[in-house]
Amino acid sequence: MLRVEKVTHSFKNGNETTAVLHDINFSVQKGEMVALLGSSGSGKSTMLNLMAGLMKPTEGHIYIADHDIVKMSENKLSEFRRKNIGFIFQAYELITSLTVRENVELPLVFQSVAPSVRKKKALELLEAVGIPDKADLFPAQLSGGQQQRVSIARSLITEPSVIFADEPTGNLDSKTEEEIITILLDLNKKMNTTFIVVTHEIEVAEQMQRIFTLRDGFMITGEQPPTEVESKGGEQDES
Ligand SMILES: Nc1ncnc2c1ncn2[C@@H]1O[C@H](COP(=O)(O)OP(=O)(O)O)[C@@H](O)[C@H]1O
Ligand SMILES: [Mg+2]
Repeated sequence: MLRVEKVTHSFKNGNETTAVLHDINFSVQKGEMVALLGSSGSGKSTMLNLMAGLMKPTEGHIYIADHDIVKMSENKLSEFRRKNIGFIFQAYELITSLTVRENVELPLVFQSVAPSVRKKKALELLEAVGIPDKADLFPAQLSGGQQQRVSIARSLITEPSVIFADEPTGNLDSKTEEEIITILLDLNKKMNTTFIVVTHEIEVAEQMQRIFTLRDGFMITGEQPPTEVESKGGEQDES
């Protein structure tokens, strides 16, 4: 479903180059829910933004459903992103002037889906995240946990093949955090959507099926030990 191959990333600021990710390799199966764990500054958000196609890695390949998103043109990539990728942010990123239901519907507005269809789907998802009664309120009228539920519903409405969540409980108290993680686990099971959840909290990561750990831009757990030397020529890159 998702495969990251030999990804390296550096940021350039003027003459200065900062290497942030080093030879990252891992893959995630369809329907899996995995954690990307690491302390602040370890490169988690950078890795997530690369996988979501929001920026291109300095080197390497990222395959989503067998498409190499690194090679895609910007136009193709933005369409691919709209259809296949969902995103949940730490700070919810809802539009304050739209109602809860309108926020959830928004990704389908960009796909020109008929209003009645959008509305029905949005209401179903608000039910699924446990806030069917909040549809006509505005984000400012909701608690943080409720706003994150809205953003989860929004991320699911296009039925993406993968959802990336960057510290989805980072702004929440521990009880609300538990509720949100429970919802994500439940939706993952029910909808078979693949989830990659970035967190710096081991307690959150431990609830996922697998944990990939980043430290200072190196992946220290996962399928490939970081010390492993090139394995006999890799996987038929050339033929
Ligand atoms: N646009 C940028 N330019 C330069 N350095 C950056 C940029 N974005 C992130 N970094 C650096 O990359 C490292 C990893 O950052 P980030 O991926 O945000 O880590 P995390 O999400 O794990 O806290 C940090 O040292 C950060 O300062
Ligand atoms: Mg981050």
